[in-house]
Amino acid sequence: MPDQKLVDYHDYVISEGRFIGRFEEMYKACENPWPESADDLELNPISSYAATLLARHGFKRIFSFGMGKGTHLAWLGGKVPGLSLAGCDISPTAISEATVRHPEINASVADAANFIESDIEFDVLLFREVIWYILTDWQQLCTTLKQKYAGRYVLVELTFYDDQRYGVEYFDGPDEFILRFPFTILEVLRHHVTPQQREGMVLILARI
Ligand SMILES: C[S@@+](CC[C@H](N)C(=O)[O-])C[C@H]1O[C@@H](n2cnc3c(N)ncnc32)[C@H](O)[C@@H]1O
Repeated sequence: MPDQKLVDYHDYVISEGRFIGRFEEMYKACENPWPESADDLELNPISSYAATLLARHGFKRIFSFGMGKGTHLAWLGGKVPGLSLAGCDISPTAISEATVRHPEINASVADAANFIESDIEFDVLLFREVIWYILTDWQQLCTTLKQKYAGRYVLVELTFYDDQRYGVEYFDGPDEFILRFPFTILEVLRHHVTPQQREGMVLILARI
């Protein structure tokens, strides 16, 4: 394994405005590419409110696309009693760790782009911090969702950056992302950390 101190996860994901997308290699090289503890999630207004929304709507089954090692999904399970947890990730290393750490999650290895074609059990689909990585498949994926899962729900959490170079031809900032969201929006929550009101996280709950 490479020296953890010398590894920058960006080199495997998005670097100098270009998508690299070597997620399996990244998880092999970096122990914790996106460090986030339960305390971080608790203090994050977007993620915290997402848990509130899931409980309020009484969703029983959530499926997370790009669940990583399952930290966030397991945290949600603790916040929303009775929520059954499932998800997939493209990285076998991430899923094998998730399976050991969080046996309560029904986790599988799959590429979100193809997996949507199979029959998935869920009330609400979660795309948390993953849409930048599936941009080329996003439109087709949404079409499939409309064909197969109309009436169910989608929950998105996504971070935008002031100096973002990658993906801006798809959504140039949160305004455009929200305006062009392809499902019936029920709620939007934005949390910005700079005066431009661009950088920061956006939550959308929508009906397919
Ligand atoms: C920033 S992490 C987010 C993990 C988790 N959703 C969270 O919020 O903690 C993005 C994850 O998406 C996964 N991913 C990227 N492209 C994917 C794809 N096409 N299908 C499934 N998972 C993918 C990566 O392997 C990585 O685990």
